[in-house]
Amino acid sequence: MADGPDLFSVLDRYIDDLLVAEGEALTGCVREARKAGLPEMQVSAGQGKLLYLLAKMVGARRILEIGTLGGYSAIWLARALPDDGRLVTLEAQARFAEVAAANLARAGLSGRVEVVAGSAVDTLPGVVDRADAPFDLVFLDADKVNYGAYFAEVMRKVRSGSLILADNVIRKGTILAPRDDDPSAGAARTFNAMIAADQRLEAIVLQQVGVKGHDGLAIARVR
Ligand code: DHB
Ligand code: MG
Repeated sequence: MADGPDLFSVLDRYIDDLLVAEGEALTGCVREARKAGLPEMQVSAGQGKLLYLLAKMVGARRILEIGTLGGYSAIWLARALPDDGRLVTLEAQARFAEVAAANLARAGLSGRVEVVAGSAVDTLPGVVDRADAPFDLVFLDADKVNYGAYFAEVMRKVRSGSLILADNVIRKGTILAPRDDDPSAGAARTFNAMIAADQRLEAIVLQQVGVKGHDGLAIARVR
């Protein structure tokens, strides 16, 4: 793509101005994460609003996120919860988890969010075992190579109507012919095939364009 803001990014900003009021907690979250040197790969503002709306639409009370980063999407998701709702979010990097916890505290959401530090490969089974109720919504946004493993694990604690969402499953189209040196593309393609073949789900992949380039969100509903 040519240099300068592309049309999709310009339209993303248009949509944000029209419909996405980020506010100080979210802009502060991005600013603090940047200051702390975290990689800037959080969902866009519009994608955050979509997560928030999906959580509200299903009346989510129990949300699980895998891949916290600086807590940006966690703020969006937690804001969709009722007062007695709970979000558990898993982050592999202890330093990122600390930044996220501070951002969630500044957003006034510490009371309903638990940030679990450590590789989700290690922490997820316990989180699933300990959950007091099925997850109404699960958002996968961590290391793509483990999406399949995370998916299999979270399916132990869902109910009819639960939503499973997964970020980055199109990856600029690289999933069509994954290269050996891009394991994330191969893993995303495998994940998409997995949810397609799973008779417990009905699913779609939503292509997305905008400030983060071209990617996609998998949206699956438990039958
Ligand atoms: C990457 C990860 C993400 O979750 C994302 O939204 C974009 C890029 C990455 O690892 O490259
Ligand atoms: Mg992502």
